[in-house]
Amino acid sequence: MEHKKRLSETTTTELRRALGAFATGVTVVTTIDAQGQPVGLTANSFTSVSMEPPLVLFCLKNGSASLKAFTNDTAFAINVLSHEQRQISQRFASKVDDRFAMTPWETWSLGVPILQDTVASFECESYAVYEGGDHQIIVGRIRQSYFNPQRQPLMYVKGGYHTHQEEVAA
Ligand SMILES: Cc1cc2nc3c(=O)[nH]c(=O)nc-3n(C[C@H](O)[C@H](O)[C@H](O)COP(=O)(O)O)c2cc1C
Repeated sequence: MEHKKRLSETTTTELRRALGAFATGVTVVTTIDAQGQPVGLTANSFTSVSMEPPLVLFCLKNGSASLKAFTNDTAFAINVLSHEQRQISQRFASKVDDRFAMTPWETWSLGVPILQDTVASFECESYAVYEGGDHQIIVGRIRQSYFNPQRQPLMYVKGGYHTHQEEVAA
């Protein structure tokens, strides 16, 4: 175990790299602000939490420009990107003026932006917000969902995007 280190010896960079070894999908989380404008950002901290009731969460950094909109007891949506939506992931992680400009979206019952052509989307009511160090843990209760089994998910691991999927036996 020569690569094992106590936490005190681990620098932030090393810790980020180790945590980044955990492969995830990529989502764009969306909501509307107090003025009714769409807001959203790329997030890979998405996790399913519970089936009864159906709960999911994502973690939002405290410095986020969208913090108020997401913690204001509003609805939000989780959009699971397909492998053809890498540019959307990059756009929603960047500082462009209007992240939604080039991305078709619609609304369902709760009025929050649902991106089109995703692998899956979940429209959620705000359920709870917990402090999580330098992030807020935002939990939502799924009210409506969409899934397209024909599309392949975009994946993220070790700081890079991946699209290739080789299925191995369970
Ligand atoms: C693949 C990927 C995953 C990300 N995951 C998260 C996340 O889970 N939570 C978060 O707060 N930021 C995450 N980010 C960073 C935000 O997308 C980025 O900082 C964005 O500019 C924040 O915008 P905002 O200030 O409008 O919230 C991620 C970025 C990328 C590229």
